[in-house]
Amino acid sequence: MELTPEEEEMLAGKQGYPVQKAMEILVQLGEIYGAAKMIPVSNVHMPGSSVVVAGEAGTRLVEKMAEAKGAFKAFTTLNPAALDFSDWQEIGFSDATFNLQNRLTSAYHKMGAVPCHTCTPYLIGNCPRKGEHVAWGESSAIAFVNSVLGARTNREGGPSALAAALTGRVPAYGYHLEENRFGDVLVELITELHGVSDYGSLGYWVGKKIGDKVPVFTGIPVAVSLEELKSLSAALASSGSVALFHVVGVTPEAPSLEAAFGPRQPSTILKFGPAQMQESLSLLNKNQGQNVSFVAIGCPHASIRELEEISRLLIGKKISSEVDLWVTTSLAMKTLAERTGYAQIIEEAGGRIIIDTCPILAAMSEVLAMKAKGALATNSAKLAHYAPGQWRMPTYFGSLEQCLAAAMEGSFQ
Ligand code: F3S
Repeated sequence: MELTPEEEEMLAGKQGYPVQKAMEILVQLGEIYGAAKMIPVSNVHMPGSSVVVAGEAGTRLVEKMAEAKGAFKAFTTLNPAALDFSDWQEIGFSDATFNLQNRLTSAYHKMGAVPCHTCTPYLIGNCPRKGEHVAWGESSAIAFVNSVLGARTNREGGPSALAAALTGRVPAYGYHLEENRFGDVLVELITELHGVSDYGSLGYWVGKKIGDKVPVFTGIPVAVSLEELKSLSAALASSGSVALFHVVGVTPEAPSLEAAFGPRQPSTILKFGPAQMQESLSLLNKNQGQNVSFVAIGCPHASIRELEEISRLLIGKKISSEVDLWVTTSLAMKTLAERTGYAQIIEEAGGRIIIDTCPILAAMSEVLAMKAKGALATNSAKLAHYAPGQWRMPTYFGSLEQCLAAAMEGSFQ
């Protein structure tokens, strides 16, 4: 790999131990993937920010870098943690989880990360532009930043994202290169979709069919919302491992079908209509008519618009005493929801706005017992995909309206 004089200095240890170790990781990665050089990254979104993933060993590694005076060269945001920092005791997380998470978050913060703990950093100020090179982890956020924003990232794991933050570099391979960003598969939407769960169904079905290829969608209207695109991103990345997609006429690298495919021809053409929607719904609904005891909304983390919609549906209503309703989001969105009054409406109805974490990255074993009596209901295809395996909970997947009705009635219709 060709390195600049500054990168050679980093590798030689002239900028300290953390930068040297980080550069060693990046050079090794670059050699594995045949990168010719490094490229600067303007920002990083850090996976492995939850101690459920990082554990004691991962926490020690980050602490070691911080103790050795590691300092992030790139603006860095943190993915969800293992608990809600504002309300962890009340929710039931243990002291041990709090102490370990606090160590990990503090070490990242000491090196310069913004401890925002969200998987939708693009809603709170980490919002790169088209063509910008970044280093992001978290599958739903990777698909969103590559596709909807048109920035460029590979799928970064904890160590490579940490190395990118410490050096401000990534090896130039994969989705950083123009030639790897064109479409592989054409997906024609031939039915109307409404709301995040419909876009989740679409993404789930397509992800299952195509694995890690790059789909190009036609038929999605220009008026598709940010929330629908975030749901599509998460679903594509959960049933498959899609990191980049294009929507003709909507996403920045697809002003036309020709632009989206570039020099390539579609290897496959898929159609998504009512029959495929039914197939997707039956894959996502894994239950035998059990009562609902846990309703989870906000995967990926809810936007302020979603919080408004939830509050509108809950105004003057009451959640069943047999059900826990979690709405997961960031501190920034919760603060706005408090200022607008949406949070008070949700809480008066008996729901809980959870920040900093989410059902998959939280230490759920500590708090799940109270929710394990019945089934989960969610409007997130990603959560519906992981929940049955992770917690062995029967799962209902449906619209926001259906999920909130289930929260009030204790059963899903
Ligand atoms: Fe985000 Fe957690 Fe869902 S990281 S995408 S809320 S599983």
